Amino acid sequence: MLDKVTTTANPQQVWDWLLRDEPLFILDLRNRDEFARWRVEGPHPPPTLNAPYFELLDLEGDEEDVTAAVMRGVRARLLPQLPAGRRILALCAEGNTSAYVAEGLRRLGFDAVNMAGGMEAWGNFYYAQTVEQNARYALYQVVRPARGCLSHVLVSDGRAAVFDPARHIEHYRQLAATLEARIERVLDTHLHADHISGGPALGAGGHIPYHLHPYDAIHPMDMLPARIDYAPLRDGETFRLGQAEIRTLHYPGHTLGMVAFLIDGRYLLSGDSLFLESIARPDLGGRAEAWAPLLYESLQRMSALPDTTVVLPAHFSDITVADGAGVFRTTLGELKRSNPGLRQLAGGREKFCAYILASLPEFPPAYVEIKRANAGLAAPDERTMQELELGRNICALTQAAGGQHG
Ligand SMILES: [Fe+2]
Repeated sequence: MLDKVTTTANPQQVWDWLLRDEPLFILDLRNRDEFARWRVEGPHPPPTLNAPYFELLDLEGDEEDVTAAVMRGVRARLLPQLPAGRRILALCAEGNTSAYVAEGLRRLGFDAVNMAGGMEAWGNFYYAQTVEQNARYALYQVVRPARGCLSHVLVSDGRAAVFDPARHIEHYRQLAATLEARIERVLDTHLHADHISGGPALGAGGHIPYHLHPYDAIHPMDMLPARIDYAPLRDGETFRLGQAEIRTLHYPGHTLGMVAFLIDGRYLLSGDSLFLESIARPDLGGRAEAWAPLLYESLQRMSALPDTTVVLPAHFSDITVADGAGVFRTTLGELKRSNPGLRQLAGGREKFCAYILASLPEFPPAYVEIKRANAGLAAPDERTMQELELGRNICALTQAAGGQHG
């Protein structure tokens, strides 16, 4: 029988190892196409080997013990590729087959653990980190590392506002409860395409205001109006939350109703306009040529904010840009120097738009359906939501193309 204490690791433990750069080796047993789509990554990428289970395991008969077959397969096919002196994390889709592999590896003398719940559990893992804590308010970043999704929670005087919540809303409720705060507002920077928003559910059908810009309360493809309870946001609109101020800034481009929230004049929740590594893609509404100039104007206006503004985006595409605590943030001044998309502004509108149109990544078909769900035009079940959200987000321009043009 497997000893649960030393032979399995949950996503939080794995994240802690990755953050501390502990000597880890990931043995990913999923099929090659699944591995290509997404995998366990950390700020210090560990060596990783994709060895599909069905290629590794060749049972000699129905009667053969699976662990014995794993040991035979490992000896025959994997042994030279496995490291000494590193803990091996065996990983599969749901954590079942990888348990046999971890056990087989242990019997062969390796320090091997199974990832409990597999990639499914990793995909649903979140952690929260403090971005700011002062006498008037505290700001937290909630990270979903597998998907590259970032949400934020602002707390002041026992009141909380949640920005861009993902669909596992219990994480935000729990965080608010831990901080002894009541969620008073829920705000989405835009109608998301890459993940199911937790906004409407957290708003509990109008019980707590759920804010969205009205231009995004419509599906951009079929032009159907959203069927959700939402409070429309206006450019320049300011909310008070306890002793903190939230200012709404309209920055169309990624979507027509894209907004950013400026907290205390200092922290810019930039949504999907400006990322740490790149800038937004303006094609998810199907009108890249029309929306690219809007993005140009928006980023011009955003650049006029003070260089000391701390940018907190809604996504990351490169996990290694996290700081030592696993927080994704940097100043606007730094981004003006380092962000390849933002640097393109200097070339003027025409060159900027040409750069954008040459840097568009693939358009994931699931994104049309996710927007439908977020607009309340479809109600996918849990299994469908899992499938729609498979893989990393692709809300930013591609890095490779950005490099060519940078
Ligand atoms: Fe987005």
